[in-house]
Amino acid sequence: MKIITFSAIKGGVGKTTLAFNYGEWLAKNGKHVLFIDLDHQSNLTQTYNIYDNQDTVGNIFLDRGKVKIHEISAYISLIAGDMHLDDIERTIENKTNKNMFLYMWLSDNYERLNLGKFEYIILDCHPDFSTATKNAVIISNAILSPITPSEHGYNAKFNLEERINELRKEAIDYSTRKSYVTTKLFFIANMI
Ligand SMILES: Nc1ncnc2c1ncn2[C@@H]1O[C@H](COP(=O)(O)OP(=O)(O)OP(=O)(O)O)[C@@H](O)[C@H]1O
Ligand SMILES: [Mg+2]
Repeated sequence: MKIITFSAIKGGVGKTTLAFNYGEWLAKNGKHVLFIDLDHQSNLTQTYNIYDNQDTVGNIFLDRGKVKIHEISAYISLIAGDMHLDDIERTIENKTNKNMFLYMWLSDNYERLNLGKFEYIILDCHPDFSTATKNAVIISNAILSPITPSEHGYNAKFNLEERINELRKEAIDYSTRKSYVTTKLFFIANMI
């Protein structure tokens, strides 16, 4: 299984569009893809005409309730975004394990939900480096970050690199001192 996160600290750079196209392309090539929508704008979820705010990704962070895996097609499934995910993030702000909820959910539910059948998990993030984004970074093999041709777009690149390096130092196993952050970071030039 490969876990790939689309993230950028700048909005409107193409995270959702590229996540969608990449997942659809993988599915056309016979790969089983699970999308997880971590953006409370839920644009990726809405692309698949899902507007229901029940059993969403929010339950992963509340550590309660069901998380529904919507079967979109034979090769594409999706965990819907939650319009209140920003509020949920604030409720867990003071928990010491707040960056590990996705990691724990994946390992706790791997067998029960047969998550091993997905060759790719693709996460779409809100344009920030919030708790939900940190959770995604910690479980990822790769982060794909679109950058657009502008001064602010270029500066956002360094911002993300720095934030990931900070998280790498912070998110460690306290006994071995090894970091949970093992992801590679790639930038994609978009909208040129
Ligand atoms: N390569 C591209 N060429 C032309 N238009 C693009 C391209 N990539 C994205 N867009 C358009 O740019 C707009 C923003 O894209 P998108 O919603 O994917 O960005 P985002 O980074 O997910 O935004 P947000 O930060 O709000 O989540 C959309 O209208 C999308 O269709
Ligand atoms: Mg988006």
